[in-house]
Amino acid sequence: MRLARVRLKNLPAPAVVLGMRTRIMDGRARHDSGQQDGTPLAPLDPAVVRRSVLPAVQRGADQMWSVDDLGWADLEAGRLTDLARSVVRYITYIEDHLPGYLDWLLRTFPATGAERDVAVFCANREYFRFFVAWAYDEERHASALTRYQLAAGISANEDALSLELAAEGIKPFALPYDHPLQAFTYTLIQEKATQLFYQRFLGVVEEPVLRNLLRLMARDEARHFALYARLVSSYLARDGARTVPYLRDVVGTFRMPLANTLAGYRRWSLQVADGIGYDHTEAYAALTRMVAEFAGRPGDADSGGMLEFVAKLRSLA
Ligand SMILES: [Fe+2]
Ligand SMILES: [Fe+2]
Repeated sequence: MRLARVRLKNLPAPAVVLGMRTRIMDGRARHDSGQQDGTPLAPLDPAVVRRSVLPAVQRGADQMWSVDDLGWADLEAGRLTDLARSVVRYITYIEDHLPGYLDWLLRTFPATGAERDVAVFCANREYFRFFVAWAYDEERHASALTRYQLAAGISANEDALSLELAAEGIKPFALPYDHPLQAFTYTLIQEKATQLFYQRFLGVVEEPVLRNLLRLMARDEARHFALYARLVSSYLARDGARTVPYLRDVVGTFRMPLANTLAGYRRWSLQVADGIGYDHTEAYAALTRMVAEFAGRPGDADSGGMLEFVAKLRSLA
């Protein structure tokens, strides 16, 4: 399947399509979120956040599974291809970087510190409920994949694997998005992309335990996506076209987690994407549908800005 490579070669970079100005600062892309009047969008009302977060946390509890549930006795390592073994190693690195992701979320949405604005604190306290539930899901993904590598003989030694993962896990993780709307736009694309990745991988895997694991992880990622999509929709409903510079900024600079740090990322990510027929730009379609739903609403003075953005997003997918 050549789709991913062909698209990557032939499409202009998202930043170009979206007409963004980017600049490099401290080795990372930083950018101008483009607020015309210099006033950032206000935080969401804590009650709005609560109404999104509490059902999302409950859904996670309702769908809970554990590493022991995967039917390890049925594992048939002989049915794993070289590609599948490589992809398992790749996604273990991605999932195992959880301490870095969680650290970034807690820094971006601090729920401690007496000097903070109470309304911001209240919203962050609600987000925190989801972040800890989300982190438990992601920790389970990392633990299950690590156990899978050992059980399937992809890695022969637990201590050696732990050191291998530590060599990447120890690298700091940060994203250049400090506004909540940007952070949630990034996470909604990333969660959707990960869900699609696991579904595509499932399409080429025959080994039954890995198939179980991929189904469960894809369901978890879809649930994570749903919460972030709901939060972004709350901004779209409240702020309309004023959200566009924030969304455009994220799409124009989007890179999957660890793209900047994982050793050999570019070659490895292209190989696995090619092998399983995956293209992360498919995840933009989810954002496109959301923006399109709110574009052109009666009374929105700048709905044209949203319609234009939707057209540009469609040209990326
Ligand atoms: Fe995950
Ligand atoms: Fe996730």
